[in-house]
Amino acid sequence: MSQPARLVVLVSGSGTNLQALLDASADPAYGARVVAVGADREDIEGLARAERAGVPTFVRKLSDFETREGWDAALTTVVERFEPDLVVSAGFMKLLSQEFLDRFLTLNTHPALCPAFPGMHGPRDALDYGVRVTGATLFVVDAGVDTGPIVAQVPVEVAEDDDVASLHERIKTAERAMLVDAVGRIAREGIAVEGRRVRIGGGRR
Ligand code: GAR
Repeated sequence: MSQPARLVVLVSGSGTNLQALLDASADPAYGARVVAVGADREDIEGLARAERAGVPTFVRKLSDFETREGWDAALTTVVERFEPDLVVSAGFMKLLSQEFLDRFLTLNTHPALCPAFPGMHGPRDALDYGVRVTGATLFVVDAGVDTGPIVAQVPVEVAEDDDVASLHERIKTAERAMLVDAVGRIAREGIAVEGRRVRIGGGRR
């Protein structure tokens, strides 16, 4: 059997998407394993989840660097050390440099149906707009904000009595299942990205 795909997961918060990947990769048949978890801040549940799972962690805080470019370079260097086949940005609240994206195939999960409601407040913006259906999107990160080629999407209905927290929690449940399914298929079958079209089963991983 070929080696499992090596995942580096980047987090900034609670890390429930990370946890879903850690749980899935306990089964060797999943085809991927988390080899490191990185964050842009300390003392977050995402890092604690990695530590409990025995996965190496690293933190690179922007405020520890004189320039953004310095932080970008440090992040690229530390991720490189873990030789990932795939980087998953799962609730990582920083943009990644072009050098990073040129070096690593990077996926991001966003709590809205792209191209609607990009940015930091997908569930709030969907609720404020009054959409009846929103959801989550997994995409290949490019230079824009939540603009990259789409790998997978899942719809979630907005309930009459939803607030931002209840809507985001339901989105996150659907988002985790989507993420685990897509990352596993990519690990086992590869991925091909041609322009905006993404095909799982395309060889590269
Ligand atoms: C997820 O819903 C993710 O899509 C969102 O943050 C949450 C992280 O949850 N990301 C963004 O809004 C990025 N624009 P988690 O830390 O429990 O995985």
